[in-house]
Order: sequence, then C-alpha cells, then structure tokens
Amino acid sequence: MAETPSLVVIGDVHKVWRPEDSTFLENGDQDVALFVGDLGDEDVDIVQTIAELAVPKRVILGNHDAWRSFSEKRITDNLRLSLSRLGTDHLAYDVFEWYQAGVSIVGARPFSWGGMSLRSPEVYRELYGVTSHEESADRIVDAARRAQHRDIVILAHNGPAGLSFETHDIWGKDFGKSPRGDWGDEDLELAIDRIKSAGLRVPLVIAGHMHHKLITPRGALRTRFLRAYGTIYMNAAVVPRTKQIANGTILSYFVRVFFSAGKLQGFEEIWVDPSCRIREQSRPRVMEEVG
Ligand SMILES: [Fe+2]
Ligand SMILES: [Fe+2]
Repeated sequence: MAETPSLVVIGDVHKVWRPEDSTFLENGDQDVALFVGDLGDEDVDIVQTIAELAVPKRVILGNHDAWRSFSEKRITDNLRLSLSRLGTDHLAYDVFEWYQAGVSIVGARPFSWGGMSLRSPEVYRELYGVTSHEESADRIVDAARRAQHRDIVILAHNGPAGLSFETHDIWGKDFGKSPRGDWGDEDLELAIDRIKSAGLRVPLVIAGHMHHKLITPRGALRTRFLRAYGTIYMNAAVVPRTKQIANGTILSYFVRVFFSAGKLQGFEEIWVDPSCRIREQSRPRVMEEVG
C-alpha cells in the first residue's frame, strides 16, 4: 500500500499490451487501474486479457472497441462478449468508490467518437436507453448523485467539449478536410457543469481518444494536461504506448495519480521497462486556462 493513495491510468491501448504490463500492475501499489479504452478493434482477446488482470480496475471502452457495432448500427457478438467479460469493471454511467482517497470515480459515456454526433444512437439506446447528448448527460449526473464522496473524478473515453479550438488543443479536431475546432463531447461538458452546480467538486477528468501526435499538422504534439475552472483535464492517449530506447529496451507508458482526502496531490508520467523498473519519470506541465 502506497503512503499516498494512488491510481494508475492506462491511455488508449490499441492492442499494445505486453505480459510485462500486466506484471507491472499486478506488482504495483496502486489502489485501482483505470483504462480509458480503445483496447483493440472489437477484439475480445485483448478485452479478456485486461479483464483477467488480478488488480482492482475500471475500464471505459472506446470507439474502436465498438467499431463494427457502430458501422452496422447493431450490437455485434464481439461487443456483447467484451461487455460480459468486463462485467462491472466497465464503468459506463456507473460509480466506483475509491475509499482510500476519499474520491468517487464516475464513468461517462463509452464508445465515444467525439464530435456532435452520437454516431449510432441505436447502440446506445439498446445498451443504456440513451439517444441524445442530453440523456447521456443525465446518466452521468445520476451516477455522480449516487456517489458517496463530494469529490468526483470522471473517467471517459473522450474529453468534454468547451476546451478546444486549435488542432493541438487537448481535444481539438486534427483530422479531415477542415481540421481545427472542438472534438470534445457535449454530454460530458453538460454533465460536468451540472455536477458542479449540484455542489460537488470535479478535481480531475481522465480521458484519451485524441492521440498525442497530431494528424494535422503531422507529428505536432497535443496539449495533454490542462487546468480550467478548477478542474484538471488529462488526455492519456500516448499512442503507441510503448517506445524503444537506445539499447533496444522497450518501455511502456503509464500515468500515476495521487489523491488524499479528496484532494489531488499530483501526478507523474512514467515509462517502465520489462523488469517493472521506472526508467523515465516526469511531472507533466499543466497548461493554465482562464477560470
Ligand atoms: Fe485511440
Ligand atoms: Fe478512440
């Protein structure tokens, strides 16, 4: 057990998950591991691997985890299997009580593609009875109202609307014929506003989806940590989540987050080698926004 309660965030996996990553988590002293999704492309095997990790964990599946279901506007067998393998570890519209830290972790809408459209309301209707951003915001707020703590950490696949305009912004649109603009989720923006209006605090929002290296301008880097209106936003989508260093060793990326008595104590990005040693460690620079 760590001195300060901690959790570990795993950004978009995109099938890059090694046995050493499982060992790192299973030997770690974090209280919970949080996955922001895009484990694979409706890949039940990778979902199974994550589901079998012998650690407390919660997952919010991403658009890639429901890729075929969204194009076919129906729930495929693979998506059903993925959801059943994860069971209650899938935190969609649900709450996880992180008692050691005095914080409740609330899951937002899974499978988000970002932008203004839900893409396939058919899938959301069948699974969650949700057909609009407004209804989805209601479900997120309901989960927060059930929370036992007044400090709420939100786990989402994509971040909220309202923070981005340029391609390099934390959830800025960097693709298509006319890049730029906000690719955040409207339901999450609405929900955060309403959760705060209800007198709860939201010290941290954890998401991914919009990868750290931009498509336009190609190779430029995205802002991934931002403070705005009393909340820190983290985009953990470093993709791929491994890199090779000079001697050929492959390192894996994680973010550690420390909380105590409901207060965010800090966070650090770490790169871990196959023997679970931390080889690189840095405190990310947090961009400041007005508010
Ligand atoms: Fe992704
Ligand atoms: Fe994604």
